[in-house]
Parts: sequence; C-alpha cells; structure tokens
Amino acid sequence: MKPAQHVEAFGTIEGELRVGGLPLSRLAARVGSTPFFAYDRGLLDARVDGLRAALPSRVELSFAMKANPMSAVVQHLARRVDRIDVASALEMQVALDTEMPPERISFAGPGKTPAEIRQAVAAGVIIEIESTTELRRVLTAGDELGVAPRVAVRVNPDFAVKGSGMRMGGGPQQFGIDAEQVPAIMREYSGSGMDFLGFHVFAGSQNLNAEIISEAQRRTVDLVSELAESLDRPLRYLNLGGGFGIPYTERDQPLDLDAVAAELHALVDGVIADRFPEAAPVIELGRYLVGEAGVYVTRVVDRKVSRGKTFLVVDGGMHHQLAASGNFGQAIRRNYPLVVGNRADAAGDEGVNVVGCLCTPLDLLGDDVTLPPADIDDLIVIFQAGAYGLTASPTAFLGHPAPAEVLV
Ligand SMILES: Cc1ncc(COP(=O)(O)O)c(C=O)c1O
Repeated sequence: MKPAQHVEAFGTIEGELRVGGLPLSRLAARVGSTPFFAYDRGLLDARVDGLRAALPSRVELSFAMKANPMSAVVQHLARRVDRIDVASALEMQVALDTEMPPERISFAGPGKTPAEIRQAVAAGVIIEIESTTELRRVLTAGDELGVAPRVAVRVNPDFAVKGSGMRMGGGPQQFGIDAEQVPAIMREYSGSGMDFLGFHVFAGSQNLNAEIISEAQRRTVDLVSELAESLDRPLRYLNLGGGFGIPYTERDQPLDLDAVAAELHALVDGVIADRFPEAAPVIELGRYLVGEAGVYVTRVVDRKVSRGKTFLVVDGGMHHQLAASGNFGQAIRRNYPLVVGNRADAAGDEGVNVVGCLCTPLDLLGDDVTLPPADIDDLIVIFQAGAYGLTASPTAFLGHPAPAEVLV
C-alpha cells in the first residue's frame, strides 16, 4: 500500500493529515511536544465494526494487548471486543482495570513465574498453559488459594503456517505443549481440581495471505477435534489464534478479510457447530485491531545536504518506533509509509533520507523516499504505528526523552 492510501484512510483537513478529527498541527499543539504517538478512536472502531460485519456472529474477538498496552486504548477496546489476551502480570492489571470480566481475560506466554501464576489464579483469568511445569504451579496456587483455576492448554500444533512474519507453532517451540503430548497430560491431570476450559492454538502472526490463514484455521479445528476426544466433558474454549497481518510496506497488499470470513463461516456453521456446541470460537488479534489506527509524529529538527543527498533529521527515531527502522525482526529493511503530515495533500518531488536523532546509522526511518520539499519544523508522520511501537522499542537507548501517547 502506498503512503497516499494511508493518508486517504485518515483523511485530510485543510491540506493536513486528520487524526482523531483534528488537523495534525492542531493536534501537535494540543499534545504540546513532539514526537508523539496518536491513536485514532474512529479508526479503531471502524476496524472492530468491519470485523464484526465480516466474521460469523458466533466468533468472539480477543484483543492481544501486547500490540498496544496503552491503558486508554485498552479501556476503549475493552468495551468493543469480547475478550482481552495478556502476556504478563502488568498487562493483566491493565486488563483487570477495564470492564472486561476476569473470565474473559486470557494469560498466555512462556515463562510465567510462580508469583505471576498466583496472581492470575487469584484474579480468576484463564491461564493458558505452556508446559506441565506451569500446570503444576497453577494447581499449587489453586490449592493454596482455595479456588479452581481456569485453565486452557496452548497447543503447539503438528503443522506450521507458511507466510507468517513470525512463526509460533509447528516444530520445536517454546510456546505451548506439543500436540502429541496433550492427551496423556489431560489424562494425568483430569480430576485435579482445575476448571479446564479448552484449547488455544496460535500458529503465527503478520500473515497477509487469506488462504493460508483459512487453512491454519481448518487444521486447528481438526487438531482440536482430535484432542477433544480424550476429554470427559464438552469444550468451552476454542481459541483459533489469529495472525491477521497489516500492510507495512508498499509491496504489501491488505489481507482479504472477506475471503478469510467466507471460509470461517463454513467452518463455524459446519464442524464447529457440530463438534463444539458450547465453545464460541475466539479469534485473537493484536496488530490487525490497532496497528493501522496509530501514527508516530515527529518534527524535523535539521535539514542537511551531504554529498548530494538530502537528510531530514527528526526529533524521534528507532528508540520509539523500532519497527519503522527495520530492526524489529525484519529480514530485509523496507520503508514504512511516511508523509509530511502538515502538507499531506502536496505532491512529492524531492528524494530524501529521513533519519532519527540517534547517533547510529540504524536509525533510518525513510531510505530515499519522495516527499514534498520539507524543512525544519515540518511534521513527519509514520503510519502503521499503532501496534508494537513504543513498548516494542529500546526507549532508554541514548537517553532521549519519552514521547507522549494520545488517544483521539
Ligand atoms: C499468543 C499470541 N496472541 C496474539 C498475538 C498477537 O499477534 P498479532 O499482533 O500479530 O495479531 C501474539 C503475538 O505474538 C501471540 O503470541
């Protein structure tokens, strides 16, 4: 997707990018300092509405808040989605501060400490078990606290999903319990006092291929059907994972949500209705819910020409938005979409490099991008910044101030 398409998604007012209904320079004045992250409520709502309209009504949406744990964002989405997925005790506290009931909060991730597990059991959230050690710790905490812990098993599937930006299932993994070990573990721990709800399979993330996502969902349902045969009661939790990707670079095409939805309708009306009448299927999404609703706004502090190449030096950089510099697990560095936000309508005719203020060549935000001529004080906006931005960046690196974050 081209930067102009991202501008269109946000809209413009008086030639400036519109964020949360405000022209960008007005928003920058309101925030009072640059750089900052801004998340657009209207776009968050539009994304949830689009998913609701496309997906079967029985499907429940879970927000994986690791993608954006800002409390205002989590509070906002908690009123619009069905569940929240957390990855630490701190995230769990943020989720518990919302209106979301604890039994609709899931806690996944390897390496949960006994202390975190005790907190989670006391809170009454669903603990997604990643190993037998975790299961034993959960049961111990349940005994000590006198509560039946809510448990789901995260399964490492016996298949891998191709085309994911990050693969988290198939082959040897630190995530989940290998599918072939699950039946024996279920037998060993049946009657152990836990409230066993069901299974979670999360095979990978950042996938833009509808066919592959649908195939993963089909195989997940088949796998869970097999595993459910060893259970003595109906499944009440069926988390199919997510993995819906967003287009980060010009080469990426948006995910065909309608195609994913069509296949999911068939699955929900067929096998899922037949085999799992008591389990509403859950789709767990992080970046797809929030990534495209966020921008990272920086100000040009210097413009210099070095041996024929023009550099725009901005007051932000990889310490806040690591992914846009290409250093967040990307195999090949490609530009994230960026524009001069206070002149978002102007045509680009100058090739420049946009660099951050860190003293390292890694801090490159735009490599040879074509922008309208920009100068000191112009606002450079980087799109696709609503997920894995601030909290996925090395904020302490080189000691620059933290950015503001606003939900508008
Ligand atoms: C268990 C689990 N759920 C959800 C997510 C969110 O992934 P994404 O932001 O790509 O939707 C991840 C990503 O790491 C994950 O591990």
